[in-house]
Amino acid sequence: MSDSPVPAASVVLVSGGSRGLGLSIVEDLVAAGLKVAAFARTVTPELAKLADTEPDTVLAGSVDVTDLAAVTAFVRRTESTLGPIDGLVNNAAIGQDSLHVHTAPDALARLIETNLTAPLLLTRLVLRRLLATSRRGRIVNVTSICAQRGFPGLAAYSATKGGMEAATRSLARELRDRALINCVAPGFFASEMSAVLGSTQLDQIVRRTSTGRLTEPVDVLPVVRMLLTADTNIHGQVLTVDGGSNT
Ligand SMILES: NC(=O)c1ccc[n+]([C@@H]2O[C@H](COP(=O)([O-])OP(=O)(O)OC[C@H]3O[C@@H](n4cnc5c(N)ncnc54)[C@H](OP(=O)(O)O)[C@@H]3O)[C@@H](O)[C@H]2O)c1
Repeated sequence: MSDSPVPAASVVLVSGGSRGLGLSIVEDLVAAGLKVAAFARTVTPELAKLADTEPDTVLAGSVDVTDLAAVTAFVRRTESTLGPIDGLVNNAAIGQDSLHVHTAPDALARLIETNLTAPLLLTRLVLRRLLATSRRGRIVNVTSICAQRGFPGLAAYSATKGGMEAATRSLARELRDRALINCVAPGFFASEMSAVLGSTQLDQIVRRTSTGRLTEPVDVLPVVRMLLTADTNIHGQVLTVDGGSNT
């Protein structure tokens, strides 16, 4: 073990960095001076523009997180373009809007593959490369308040987020001081994923939130940045950013 703190990440891989919270994380990290590689199945014009404007700092790729060969190729491309990856944000995920009894087996399997299996495999890939070269790093898993509080229509989704939180605690013990790994669990915020929520559901969430408003990506960004770059001893934790939900 080393006496020194785990250094700040300098080259960060962000899954699902094309829109929503992921794109905001990419923009925030770039503004903070980090190099960022971001991927999603579709590279949006916003992400493409960022990569075109800052080719030495931002790399964008069209990659499905469930396609391990494609993910591995993008990791290699990132390392040859931006340098060795020492930060990972597992942000890509798909949502759910179906009671468990109405969720088809293939939909349930897809949720688990995208939101749990794929980030665990990506984490394994990044960690193996990091540890093989005796470097140290930081990992942030974007989970959800649903893992802690529950929400109707989100049983399988919540299971995947709770799974990532459990894996994070065990990984922190495995990794010791080789890498810091933590979760950020946001409350509901407006995005393509949460667009399925109706106004009745949103009103209810706001009513049950101490701060009386929905979370916004901008509330989450400083926490992600801090976990990637600050000189901290935070390890294996879930930091919730939800305005204090009372449900
Ligand atoms: N919105 C909320 O209320 C809320 C609350 C708590 C936590 N979260 C979590 O916050 C994170 C971001 O959510 P968001 O609301 O910003 O969602 P979003 O707007 O739907 O964005 C999801 C991102 O993940 C990518 N993605 C989805 N499936 C993928 C796949 N198979 N391969 C690669 N990329 C994939 C999407 O791009 P493509 O579709 O082009 O692949 C997109 O870039 C997620 O982990 C979510 O679970 C969201």
